[in-house]
Amino acid sequence: MSALPIAPAASPDPLHFLHQRRSTRAFTTQAVDPSLLERLLIAARAAPSGANLQPGRFIQVQGAARERLTQALLHDFESGAPEREDYAYFPRPMPMALRKRQVAAAQALYGAIGVERADQLARDAQFARNYRFFDAPVALIVTLDAHFGAGGYMDLGMALYGLQLAATALGLGSCAIGALASYPDTVRRVLALDADQHVVCGVALGWADAHAPINQTRTSRIALPDYYQIKIN
Ligand SMILES: Cc1cc2nc3c(=O)[nH]c(=O)nc-3n(C[C@H](O)[C@H](O)[C@H](O)COP(=O)(O)O)c2cc1C
Repeated sequence: MSALPIAPAASPDPLHFLHQRRSTRAFTTQAVDPSLLERLLIAARAAPSGANLQPGRFIQVQGAARERLTQALLHDFESGAPEREDYAYFPRPMPMALRKRQVAAAQALYGAIGVERADQLARDAQFARNYRFFDAPVALIVTLDAHFGAGGYMDLGMALYGLQLAATALGLGSCAIGALASYPDTVRRVLALDADQHVVCGVALGWADAHAPINQTRTSRIALPDYYQIKIN
């Protein structure tokens, strides 16, 4: 009897982790081993940067400092304190095509937790969770020396992505938190940071709670022809 042919094992997609990554906004209480966090920061640090300047710093906030920061940011958010980012993020005014993407992302998020568009109270409650770092075991603040221009932000974005990809590869979940950048003076005051440290964003990091509805959020991407073109002449 001839042996059955053995099907070749499907080769894993080398870009698997890149496509698997998505923002995680609910975590288990399991701690992240400091050695694991160190691996992620080494991965972030491996990012390329213009002239190898390696801009940006990651600050972990723990214990009383983290709680003070969360309470101060929640106070700003809930009292309607004016937002004053260190750097411009979104185009103002937002063009309609981008606004549609923003709305779609918000719908994906609030839809996952069953919050209606008109339910401002529930939306605010979810938004406030940004300032609690989504109760993640690890909370990071990402800063940049204020003397850097847009290039420094670009370099730092690569490092941030390196950190998030490495987290995915090691089975961890993460979410960048731009909401923190709305109140940079508060972050600097509470953490006693130098005035010339721009507050870029926060990062929540930990083991994803696989059962949390918010972690079922799925976002889409624009069509490739809208993203990539070839010009010959
Ligand atoms: C710099 C940056 C800041 C972000 N800020 C927030 C935030 O404040 N709150 C939040 O819930 N998600 C935040 N996100 C996550 C984005 O909403 C998310 O990346 C986007 O919707 C695409 O979804 P995905 O990460 O699941 O692919 C941020 C992402 C980046 C890269």
